[in-house]
Amino acid sequence: MDTVQFRNLMRHQAGAVTIIAVGKAGNRTGLTATAMCSLSDTPPMILICVNKNASAYGPIKAAKCFSVNVLAKDQQDLAKRFSSKKLEGEARFDQDAWITMRTGAPLLRGAIANLDCELADEHVFETHSIFIGRVKDGQFHEKVEPLLYFRGDFWDLKKA
Ligand SMILES: Cc1cc2nc3c(=O)[nH]c(=O)nc-3n(C[C@H](O)[C@H](O)[C@H](O)COP(=O)(O)O)c2cc1C
Repeated sequence: MDTVQFRNLMRHQAGAVTIIAVGKAGNRTGLTATAMCSLSDTPPMILICVNKNASAYGPIKAAKCFSVNVLAKDQQDLAKRFSSKKLEGEARFDQDAWITMRTGAPLLRGAIANLDCELADEHVFETHSIFIGRVKDGQFHEKVEPLLYFRGDFWDLKKA
């Protein structure tokens, strides 16, 4: 199977949209990512897949911690901002929208859930790394609805 066929196949998997963020105020970066899933509950671990060319790749390895912010349906603009080359690094961060989590990673206000992770392991595979995160802390908001990504577009539960 070639890359185009593979992409056409994978775009049918509806997924939650997250922003993975790293760094201290003044020196933060992050990316929009759908490649995040639970790995185990005991211990509480997740995994994320990050392109080695992404600006956040080096900082995640250096900081040894990162956050995963599961986006709410009204946060589509942020998903676009963190996946666009128009803004980079700290310029992607709206000052009022972010606070610091226990590990020191940035936490996005208004997200449906925030996971504060310590980097536990990395598995490099060609263009990407699988980062395994130990979830140290987190919070969620029961009444907020998720932003979804499906067939190359953003959706919410009502549109779906
Ligand atoms: C919906 C969506 C999901 C994405 N998921 C991932 C992902 O799981 N892993 C990844 O490395 N990049 C993913 N990307 C691409 C990054 O968001 C994009 O390359 C981003 O600009 C990071 O690179 P930069 O910080 O170097 O600009 C996704 C983009 C979009 C729009």
